[in-house]
Amino acid sequence: MKQILMNAVHMSCVGDIAHGLWTHPRDQSSRYTDLDYWAELARTLERGCFDSLFLADIVGANDVYEGRPDAALRAAVQMPIDDPLLLVPAMAHATRHLGFGVTANLSYEQPYLFARRFTTLDHLSRGRVAWNVVTGFLDSAARAMGQERQLPHDERYARAEDFMDVVYKLWEGSWEDDALPRDKVAGVYALPEKVHAIDHRGPYYRVQGAHLSEPSIQRTPVIFQAGASARGIDFAARHAECVFVSGNKAQAREIVGTIRARAAAFGRDPADLRFFLGVVVVVAPTDALAQELDAEYRRYASPQAGLAHFSSQTGIDFSRYGLDEPISLVKTESVQSFVESVTSKSAGKAWTVRKLLEQMTLGSRHTPLIGSPQRVADALESWVRETDIDGFNLVRTVVPEGFTDFVDLVIPELQSRGSFKTTYAEGSLRHKLFGAGDRLPRRHPAGALRRAASGGAST
Ligand SMILES: Cc1cc2nc3c(=O)[nH]c(=O)nc-3n(C[C@H](O)[C@H](O)[C@H](O)COP(=O)(O)O)c2cc1C
Repeated sequence: MKQILMNAVHMSCVGDIAHGLWTHPRDQSSRYTDLDYWAELARTLERGCFDSLFLADIVGANDVYEGRPDAALRAAVQMPIDDPLLLVPAMAHATRHLGFGVTANLSYEQPYLFARRFTTLDHLSRGRVAWNVVTGFLDSAARAMGQERQLPHDERYARAEDFMDVVYKLWEGSWEDDALPRDKVAGVYALPEKVHAIDHRGPYYRVQGAHLSEPSIQRTPVIFQAGASARGIDFAARHAECVFVSGNKAQAREIVGTIRARAAAFGRDPADLRFFLGVVVVVAPTDALAQELDAEYRRYASPQAGLAHFSSQTGIDFSRYGLDEPISLVKTESVQSFVESVTSKSAGKAWTVRKLLEQMTLGSRHTPLIGSPQRVADALESWVRETDIDGFNLVRTVVPEGFTDFVDLVIPELQSRGSFKTTYAEGSLRHKLFGAGDRLPRRHPAGALRRAASGGAST
């Protein structure tokens, strides 16, 4: 049995993707503006040997439902929301090993400054940063940034390719490994001949100049991505080191196989990718207690808020549909795989709002795994055995209780079975995940841009 990898998923906001659970009396997610909340969470996860805390993010208001943001604002559906990047240094300071996967939407960023921000995070965390590459799916974000609407779905990916080219050149190709003698006697900090200006002229970006920051441990942060449309799969296969997948076992197995094969077609080793399945867990010492806890959580969940959120993700205003009216096939520029999942007919039956609401038992479309530590561990292990995934993205429920319960109950069970680590390996996040050093392999498009040190090959 391979070692299971584990990320916790949270956002710098109240609603996150478990809508309504913030109203549970024990939930503390409304402390998201308090740095102690994040430091405590990071320490809890590190106690459980989690690989990383993955911070999702969204830019723009959820205003597709009813054509206005009111339902989302009332229920704290991912607004108000703070900047996840700014949480990382404090959490890195409170921990030694935990990685930090930070979502950043590149569509409204300048790559030159963006590259420096991530290098800074990699410096301050001593090589523990990952970037979840997203391109956004909200017109409200585009309008807030002075545009009429967002770019069409596939063109967003085309722009993302150009953006990646720029930041890879800055991270990998600008500073040579031996560019920094830091020689106090000679008064020479950096050798100008080993600091190279890039000259990028792409379809979307023109960037001329050297990277502002000196290289960090990982240079390029670990690249996370979730690509499910045809274009998204290609993007993941080219760039991602960690990929998020969802669906049932057959669907997960298929998408993992597809992305690994595409990665090989791009000249990468399929083993250079790790796959994570999103999972919601409700665990207690016995099955009966877990069922009770789940029933308690459900009383606070808000499927209606989940529906408002899902309107934004799909670009479909579900308030226009009657409860049992079939959801029609529509073309939107939002998350294509989500649109397809509700406009395709499963078992010959069209999706309806009633069906969607029924699915959102804990306020999102994830079906919770409920039970004793043994039952949950059995289920997690069976997923890893039967699909080719490497681990899980544990989605929040009641915070921090859901994470703490998992650390106290499920992790020791997995550890006793030998399927989860009991200590961390030393080194950067990339080294912990892949065991092959801090830097991207040469066969990755970023690794290929790395300059050898003029005096010899770089590592
Ligand atoms: C587990 C997971 C987490 C995601 N997190 C974010 C996020 O934080 N912010 C965001 O804008 N999109 C997020 N997405 C959406 C993806 O970036 C991407 O748009 C989508 O999965 C695939 O889109 P496509 O089907 O249109 O290719 C996430 C998707 C998944 C499956």
